[in-house]
Amino acid sequence: MSTIGLIGSGLIGSTVARLAVAAGHEVVLSNRRGPETLSDLVAELGPQARAATPAEAAQAGDITVVTIPLHAYRTVPVAALYGKVVIDTNNYYPERDGHIAELDTETTTTSELLQAHLPASRIVKTMNNIFYAHLGNLARPSGDPARSVLALAGDDAAAKQTVTVFLDSIGYDALDAGPLAEGWRFQRDTAAYSDPYFSEGHSLATTVRGADPGPGRPATANTMRAALAAAKRYRDM
Ligand SMILES: NC(=O)c1ccc[n+]([C@@H]2O[C@H](COP(=O)([O-])OP(=O)(O)OC[C@H]3O[C@@H](n4cnc5c(N)ncnc54)[C@H](OP(=O)(O)O)[C@@H]3O)[C@@H](O)[C@H]2O)c1
Repeated sequence: MSTIGLIGSGLIGSTVARLAVAAGHEVVLSNRRGPETLSDLVAELGPQARAATPAEAAQAGDITVVTIPLHAYRTVPVAALYGKVVIDTNNYYPERDGHIAELDTETTTTSELLQAHLPASRIVKTMNNIFYAHLGNLARPSGDPARSVLALAGDDAAAKQTVTVFLDSIGYDALDAGPLAEGWRFQRDTAAYSDPYFSEGHSLATTVRGADPGPGRPATANTMRAALAAAKRYRDM
């Protein structure tokens, strides 16, 4: 079992923490406002969970999950993550994050920005393209016919293998989408973004307007592979 550091403990961070604890891992949660604001979540998660500062969570994590609004990525502790495997769930929403020129011009991708901020860490992009409630609902044991796949991208094969083993432990198969530079294939507004996990009659667009997201539906490797292959750059849309 591993220790999972969480930098960000909101909708996605808390969902990953719940799945990790259920799988037997320890979690160290952190957020912007301070560990004392995470006492309810720690109490819910029980003795495998504690709250700390982002630097402490990063230090403690065998794997650390960065799951914060993208605009805050430069605050992620660098030294504490030296050499470590870092999962990046972040997405770019200019209306929330402000405009980031390199992303607007598509000269880089969100996870490559985080990699540039953490040059000695090994970033793996995953879990960014699934609605948090579906991430919680769709986890299934290995071999279950209703098990879903999660795409991942990264430049370090060993880090991708580490994350594949972690995803397996929390209830998901992994599908390698290539290096970090290919991460745009499952960024927002692509066919691979959220839709593969929404069941008939539900969508991210209606969910953000307040509709029920539904229970989600399993996404197979073939579904995700086809969605990744169909991805278009913004400039080609
Ligand atoms: N929601 C989804 O379904 C979903 C799905 C996939 C990917 N994502 C992406 O994943 C990221 C997290 O999304 P979310 O929905 O979980 O966000 P959220 O619910 O708003 O939670 C954000 C978390 O990040 C923390 N945070 C903010 N600034 C921080 C900083 N500088 N250092 C440490 N922690 C900080 C917040 O702490 P405070 O509460 O103290 O401010 C909070 O715990 C976003 O980039 C989002 O686009 C979201």
